[in-house]
Amino acid sequence: MSSATTARPRTLSAPARESSEAMDLAAKTVDASKTVMTQLVFPEHANALGKAFGGQVMAWTDMAGGVCSMRHSGGLTVTAAVDELTFEVPLRIGDIAVIEARVNAAFRSSMEVEVEVWAERPELTTRSRCILARLTFVGIDAEGRTRAVPPLLPQTDEERARARDAEARRADRLARRARQGTT
Ligand SMILES: CC(C)(COP(=O)(O)OP(=O)(O)OC[C@H]1O[C@@H](n2cnc3c(N)ncnc32)[C@H](O)[C@@H]1OP(=O)(O)O)[C@@H](O)C(=O)NCCC(=O)NCCS
Repeated sequence: MSSATTARPRTLSAPARESSEAMDLAAKTVDASKTVMTQLVFPEHANALGKAFGGQVMAWTDMAGGVCSMRHSGGLTVTAAVDELTFEVPLRIGDIAVIEARVNAAFRSSMEVEVEVWAERPELTTRSRCILARLTFVGIDAEGRTRAVPPLLPQTDEERARARDAEARRADRLARRARQGTT
């Protein structure tokens, strides 16, 4: 993992920094892998107070993020890390949970994927955010070895800013990993 802490987001704005391995992979836009999952909250998803179990909502979060990372990377991925995850408002039985996932940045084999979970009530025109989470997924091949993923092609100022912010978070994440001795 020696070079991982200095790896740049793999965007087309920095082609000179990319390895020759990356050059074999065509860059993809953010929109190409955006993923939206919709789930009606049933009693079996909820606790005695009629609110969705945190673990259930986290599973939906991981699922949508995983699909998004597979779409971007064009193959299998595993969840490597989940950043701090806060439950902002509860989902209740009868709510429509909308789980939205997008790639913020792609590095060599890893990607930061941002997932937001929203609660919609059929009778309301507004929706409330339940979760904002950022997850790191790693592309793996059929033998379970890590593999390079395509660079991300941010197309708007907002997407470029997200990629820059993700790079800073990655540095923090990898420093934490190194401190925990899991390199
Ligand atoms: C994630 C995993 C594939 C990393 O494998 P590894 O042999 O440690 O590989 P590396 O150290 O080369 O890391 C591979 C990439 O993952 C990133 N990574 C690994 N652990 C990370 C962490 N805790 N946080 C953020 N990124 C991490 C590295 O930075 C590197 O990214 P890069 O290639 O873009 O630079 C491996 O630890 C694993 O399989 N973990 C279990 C995953 C799992 O079971 N998930 C739940 C079910 S899907």
